[in-house]
Amino acid sequence: MTISTPVTIRDPSPRARPTITTKNLTIRYGDKVALRDVSLTFEPCTITAILGPSGSGKTSLLASLNRLTDLIPSCRVDGSVRIDDMDVFERNTDVVELRHRVGMIFQRPNLFPMTIRRNLELPLREHGHRNQNFLDEKIERMLVEVGLWDEVKDRLERSALTLSGGQQQRLCLARALVLEPDVLLLDEPCSALDPISTSIVEELLVRLRTKCTLIVVTHNLAQAGRISDKSALLWSEGDGGRLIEAGETRVMFDSPREGLTEAYLKGKVG
Ligand SMILES: Nc1ncnc2c1ncn2[C@@H]1O[C@H](COP(=O)(O)OP(=O)(O)OP(=O)(O)O)[C@@H](O)[C@H]1O
Ligand SMILES: [Mg+2]
Repeated sequence: MTISTPVTIRDPSPRARPTITTKNLTIRYGDKVALRDVSLTFEPCTITAILGPSGSGKTSLLASLNRLTDLIPSCRVDGSVRIDDMDVFERNTDVVELRHRVGMIFQRPNLFPMTIRRNLELPLREHGHRNQNFLDEKIERMLVEVGLWDEVKDRLERSALTLSGGQQQRLCLARALVLEPDVLLLDEPCSALDPISTSIVEELLVRLRTKCTLIVVTHNLAQAGRISDKSALLWSEGDGGRLIEAGETRVMFDSPREGLTEAYLKGKVG
């Protein structure tokens, strides 16, 4: 099943907004299948919501897209993932470059136990940026972008771990954005956030849509309805998550093709 309807929002430069295609993607942990035979296309300038009950393989799918699955020794991935013409699982693929292009935000903020400034400076320095004026300017711009600048501008030298959960998650977003990723993967990014932080993050994601390809795992159907252009529903009967339906969110929510999608969207199952 493929998400194939053209999107409406377009930006002139094609480089930074890649198309991601999975073909017959199957993910196993040891003998256990977590995701089964998923073929999906994630289009540029589009927010795609990945929906499905707990254990349906949503996180596994996201993690395979920038090969975080490599870090789990028991994990085996079959099928293919392409980001434009890059074959993600090809032996010679530069994984550092891949993760530079494809950033990921997790359910819980995972900041480094260092200052707010250092959290943003570190990835930039690791990618060769040394000019302090450039670093300061970039850090301020990213903090403004995620709506944090006014809250933290007087405490940049304090530990990032002194921030509230919502502030920490927005700092994680800023840290991912300093490297100007082409793709941003977000795994339930708002599930631990209050409504105000949630709406700041949602507005940011909608703005980012013109800059990168966004894939958001969410259990929050109202959020998927608010921010996503496309949705995909995964479902597992205990034998690995399968793709049940994918398409434009509005169409899928108003008139789902599959009975299971309708039942899930109505809260009757899952
Ligand atoms: N590191 C791992 N080792 C072994 N099994 C795993 C591992 N990670 C996930 N699994 C299994 O793979 C299946 C899919 O897990 P995954 O975390 O991808 O689901 P999910 O849809 O993200 O669930 P949730 O909504 O609870 O986050 C589950 O059965 C899970 O137990
Ligand atoms: Mg998950």
